[in-house]
Amino acid sequence: MARLRRAGCVFAEQEAAVLEEAAGDPHELERLCARREAGEFLEHVVGSVEICGERLSIGSGCFVPRQRTALLIGTALAEARRRRRPVIVEACCGIAPLATIIGRRVPTARVHVTDHDPCPLVHARENLPPGAEVHCGTGLGPLPPELAGAVDLLAAVPPYVPAGQWDLMPREAREHEPVPALVAGHDGLDEVRRLLKEAPHWLAPGGVLLLEMHRDQAPSALAAARGTGAYGELGTVDGEDGETALLRATMPARAPAPSPAGPAPDLVLLRRVRDRIDRDHAQPLDVETLARTVHLSGGHLSRRFREEYGESPYSYLMTRRIERAMALLRHTDRSVTDICMAVGFSSPGTFSTRFKELLGIPPSVYREQGVEVLDSMPPCIARRVTRPIRKREAPPPSGA
Ligand SMILES: C[S@@+](CC[C@H](N)C(=O)[O-])C[C@H]1O[C@@H](n2cnc3c(N)ncnc32)[C@H](O)[C@@H]1O
Repeated sequence: MARLRRAGCVFAEQEAAVLEEAAGDPHELERLCARREAGEFLEHVVGSVEICGERLSIGSGCFVPRQRTALLIGTALAEARRRRRPVIVEACCGIAPLATIIGRRVPTARVHVTDHDPCPLVHARENLPPGAEVHCGTGLGPLPPELAGAVDLLAAVPPYVPAGQWDLMPREAREHEPVPALVAGHDGLDEVRRLLKEAPHWLAPGGVLLLEMHRDQAPSALAAARGTGAYGELGTVDGEDGETALLRATMPARAPAPSPAGPAPDLVLLRRVRDRIDRDHAQPLDVETLARTVHLSGGHLSRRFREEYGESPYSYLMTRRIERAMALLRHTDRSVTDICMAVGFSSPGTFSTRFKELLGIPPSVYREQGVEVLDSMPPCIARRVTRPIRKREAPPPSGA
């Protein structure tokens, strides 16, 4: 304890207890103590951090979650609990404190995280509950395409230190956290602006974006959000520490129902897009290019498509491909691999997984068992039976 105090640790007594608990033997304790004396974060030294009552794994080279982020986590938890099966994304996740806590406390949540640094993602994988998906890449770019227009809550602690304030940061942060985890351009808002620009493509109607920043940055961030023209409600939440603030931006809710005078004007465009997906189902889907052909943005197209047809363009394409594959399995003797390629899948594994997801059986079993049953059915009934139903859309079992 005396050594820690000499090294400048304000809470030397508590830190000594934490180090003793983490060390297996006196040698280990000596090693850990020396690292802490040299200025490493206590959390890096002991390999764990506690936030909002949860213990998370962390290691050297990772950003250490700050206690002020409890404001963002609490606000995000409340948003998540308002929804039945929320789709949650934590961007710039680091070791993923927010997504982990939501994943642990809201078991119905479907959780995705992204970060461009693979180092903290090793710990994110350890922390997150099973089923959560980890994506590595810049901004929201690495999210899977089927999430477009489907995210209910997108939250982030992006880096937000202005470049000119780097020198004012505590020494342990300057020496033991990566610069891109902290600093984001001259005003600190480069990553905030990136997320504000990218988020509308991914958010569902009524979806919420929450971004942590310093209170002084909130007016500029609000102006940037307004400048995108994409959000409905915009506001800020102030932390009790007098420094932390959250920007809260919501996507406009579901478009109003069509008037009796006729369908919404973009319905014609949506039908055109759907027809094109039907026709070109074997080609790769490029939502941005498709959207341009009908003069819509990719995000708007994905959102409106989901509103009208109950699934994203990507998911609709997958259903069409499986539908076509079912017809080929029933009416031709082409091999399963050949059919998989013919309908646009590039890997038999993905084909088989998608097929099973929709129908509950692999293509080979469908060919063996399904054909007999279907051949003896009147065509109008067979058509209904053979149309794939996504599991979540299937009616509940009778008596449920
Ligand atoms: C301030 S830390 C926050 C980490 C975590 N959310 C937390 O609170 O502990 C910012 C994180 O953003 C990541 N990051 C910075 N710029 C990024 C970018 N352009 N794309 C993706 N991730 C980025 C860093 O690797 C870092 O993990």
